[in-house]
Parts: sequence; structure tokens; C-alpha cells
Amino acid sequence: MSNGAEFDYCFENKTVWRRKVWDAIHHRLSKAGKKPKDAVVLYLAAELDLDRSVAFEHGFRNQNLIAIEKDERVADFLREQKKPVIHSTLEKVVGSWNSELKVDVIMADLCCGITKTSASCCYSMMCRSEFDDAIIMFNLLRGRDPLIEVAKSWASNGSGHRGSVLRRYITEVMLGRSVEETVESAEQTKQYVEELKEKARRFYQAKDSGNYKEALRISQQKIETPAPPLMMVEMESQMKLYSYKSTSGQYFDSIIFKNVLRRCFPDRIKDTQDLMAKDDATARQIAAVLAVRTRRVNLELTRQP
Ligand SMILES: C[S@@+](CC[C@H](N)C(=O)[O-])C[C@H]1O[C@@H](n2cnc3c(N)ncnc32)[C@H](O)[C@@H]1O
Repeated sequence: MSNGAEFDYCFENKTVWRRKVWDAIHHRLSKAGKKPKDAVVLYLAAELDLDRSVAFEHGFRNQNLIAIEKDERVADFLREQKKPVIHSTLEKVVGSWNSELKVDVIMADLCCGITKTSASCCYSMMCRSEFDDAIIMFNLLRGRDPLIEVAKSWASNGSGHRGSVLRRYITEVMLGRSVEETVESAEQTKQYVEELKEKARRFYQAKDSGNYKEALRISQQKIETPAPPLMMVEMESQMKLYSYKSTSGQYFDSIIFKNVLRRCFPDRIKDTQDLMAKDDATARQIAAVLAVRTRRVNLELTRQP
């Protein structure tokens, strides 16, 4: 993955995007009954660490915001400010997460596009019990991705939106299906949506003409076609896509979703050959950061009001 530590991330499109992303994370956590103040977050900070103040505004707390930074200079700089930092790559952290501590949010604001590493990193997160039901965000550069021709064939509409490509990859992982089955499911989705539209049309026709009894009857009618699995996956995982243009004219695409793989599709977890490998140095860093965090949390609990 490319080195993005030296780039400027303080420009209007990204500021708007950052805020929207944190809003979406906050919304999904609240919907799940989780309080942001208790949520553990892993994120890629960069030198200016612009996410942190937005996260604070949304109720997240300092000791729970754990930065991951592969650039040593930036990691040291953040550490000097007493911020929890793991100096490693996201991939290694995912492979080495050796704690019982559940992670609630992962913000993978990457500088690269869809690569075997970024896609496998996403899959690895989804397979780990510590990341069950976590809100995952991937931000990917559109372009410069060697796998894009393969990846595009995953996207249902051939779209170049990298979030959409990753969405297709995620749903494929969850459903564990072949391309033929996916096409069949797309047909089923079309039929389901047509039936939904027809039901809505009849409902409003009855309601607008004052026939409320008939409107009620229609609203209770079942749709013949079963809800398509693809749609179920997207609804269950609350997927949402975003995009913005950088100051150098490059597009970045992102996806936010809830990790429901192990809870909803336990039989879809494939063998572990694609999973990120454990790295001992990273495991030691994680343990050290979490030990400091636990001390701070305990201190806070014992503090007099
Ligand atoms: C795009 S910037 C993060 C910007 C920040 N989220 C914001 O909104 O301003 C990514 C940062 O993470 C680092 N980085 C990129 N890829 C990484 C990876 N795979 N693992 C760890 N750090 C990475 C880069 O060095 C850079 O400092």
C-alpha cells in the first residue's frame, strides 16, 4: 500500500466526507444500542489526526480511539501527544489482534485502491470474533489498483466505484455464491422490487380514493417472491456508499457496513488461507497500548466525582 503520511487531508470535500462518515458510524452504533463513549475504535490517523476531534464531537473518548500508523515518524509524533498509537500496518494489526477486547469501529481510510491486500484485510476483519458487529469503513482510491479488472466483475453494475466493488466482494463472501447464482439472484431482486412497486401503487390508489379498509388489506398482503438474499445482506449489514474528489482531482470511494458475517452467515466463513498473518512485533505493540488503555479506564472509574 502506498505511503500517504505526507499528504494534506484538510480540504473541504474530505472534511465534509469525514463528518458524514462519523455521523453514519454514530447512527449505526446508536441503532445497535451502543454508546459512543464505550466504543473501541481502530483508525488510520495521519499526522494531523483530523478524525479525533470529529470523533470527540460524536461522544467517542480519547482512550478508546486507537490510531494505527505505518509511518514511524508520524506514529512517534502522535505518541508524543499521549495518544494511543500502534506503529504497524492495519493488515498486521488485524492479523495480530490478541485481545478479548471487542472492536466496535474500524476506519480504514487507506491511500490505495482495491488490492489483494486491502480486500483480504477486509475479509480477515469480517472473520474475527473480536470484530463481530463492528462498523467497518473502507476508503479507497479509484484507480491505480492492479486487481481492478477482476474486481470490476464483482460489481453488480460494472461500476468503477470502489466501495461498490468492495460491496459486491463482501456480499459474495457472505453468500458464498457462484456468478450464476448471483445473476439468478439479481433477477429475483428485480421481480421482488417490481412486486413491491405494484403493491405500493395499489395501496396509494385505495388510500387516495378514501377506501381505507382496502388500503389496510393491501398493506397486509405478502409479496409472492421471497426477499432476495442479496437484499437481505445489504439490509442486515446497513451498507452505504460515499465518494469525494481530492484536491489533485483523484476520486476516493468508501463503504460503511456492519460486520454481520459470523452472526448471520456462520457457514460462509471459508478456510483461513486468505486471512492476514500474525506479526509478533505488532502483537507486542497492541498488548502495550491496551495495557495503558486499561490503566486509564480503571483510573477513570476510581476517580472521585
Ligand atoms: C488517508 S490517511 C488518514 C487520514 C485521516 N483519516 C483523515 O481523515 O484525515 C492514511 C494514514 O494512514 C497511514 N496508512 C496508510 N495505509 C496504511 C496501512 N495499511 N496501515 C497503517 N497505516 C496506513 C498513512 O501513512 C497515513 O498517515
